[in-house]
Amino acid sequence: MFDGFAHVWSPLVINRKLGRRPLRLILAGEPIVLFRDHNGVIGALIDRCPHRGVALSLGQVGPDGCLECPFHGWRFNTAGANQGAPLNPDAKLDQLSAIPLPVREIGDMIWVYSAPGVEAPAEPVAPEGLTRAGLSRTYLDREWDCHWTRAMENMLDSPHLPFVHRRSIGRSYRRRMTPTSRMEITWEETPFGGRSQALLDGDNSAAFLEFFRPNIMALVIPIPGKHLRIHALVAPTERGRTRLTVVGSRDFAKSALLDPLFSWMNGRIADEDRAVVESSGAQEAPPPGAEPSVRTDRATLQFRKYYHDVLRQSAA
Ligand code: FES
Ligand SMILES: [Fe+2]
Repeated sequence: MFDGFAHVWSPLVINRKLGRRPLRLILAGEPIVLFRDHNGVIGALIDRCPHRGVALSLGQVGPDGCLECPFHGWRFNTAGANQGAPLNPDAKLDQLSAIPLPVREIGDMIWVYSAPGVEAPAEPVAPEGLTRAGLSRTYLDREWDCHWTRAMENMLDSPHLPFVHRRSIGRSYRRRMTPTSRMEITWEETPFGGRSQALLDGDNSAAFLEFFRPNIMALVIPIPGKHLRIHALVAPTERGRTRLTVVGSRDFAKSALLDPLFSWMNGRIADEDRAVVESSGAQEAPPPGAEPSVRTDRATLQFRKYYHDVLRQSAA
């Protein structure tokens, strides 16, 4: 279960998408159903009834806050415990539970831990831009036809900015580049992943990025005294498919009327990447030594090492 993406916390979806009806999402090949009970508590279950395997997400949440299976009406609470098996008053309910996943609501996002029926060993670590009060945030979703590792490493790859994004976030690199320019990529390990900056000819005034294992990039755009960040949340869905959620956060120009403008800019950047990343196909990013690399690949090689050393073998 969750092969190659197990035992990690991952943001799954923005909470406003979870309304009164259960919500089905795929993470690393596993269908997950999210629902809220009458107290607002969120449940995350494997979207498969333990009885005959139908999708619980086709059911509905009853007045008691339980998710009722559409087939024979078994009722599961947010912890997955069976609270009723109609027509079978003698059923041993404690043996008829659904499979729960640890779930948290952090900022505006719902996170799940990709291992069933366990306590998560630690709490998720979210970038400040996703959690800090008083920020305006915009959200947009994309589905890409590629292995998630290709999309993730693209988000950590600074030397593509003056090429793929020559008319947007790479414009200043493009303008300053000369035939003899040199880019240095710094990489600093952090408790949650890493921090990296691309220095063009020694200029360190540029944006820097933070990687939050396993699948979040936060781009910190330096504007003195202001907060402006773009986050890429990258998640495997079906095999060879990736869900990309782009979250912009800012502490200025906070009018909601400006949200479409910020969203448009972030969507444009993501869409510039799409064709390039999708052209690498459904295959995962290979181990660090498998393709020729250069100095400017430092950050992406760190990700490849993490993926191949830790995540790729994982299963729950
Ligand atoms: S399949 Fe869910 S109750 Fe029978
Ligand atoms: Fe890009």
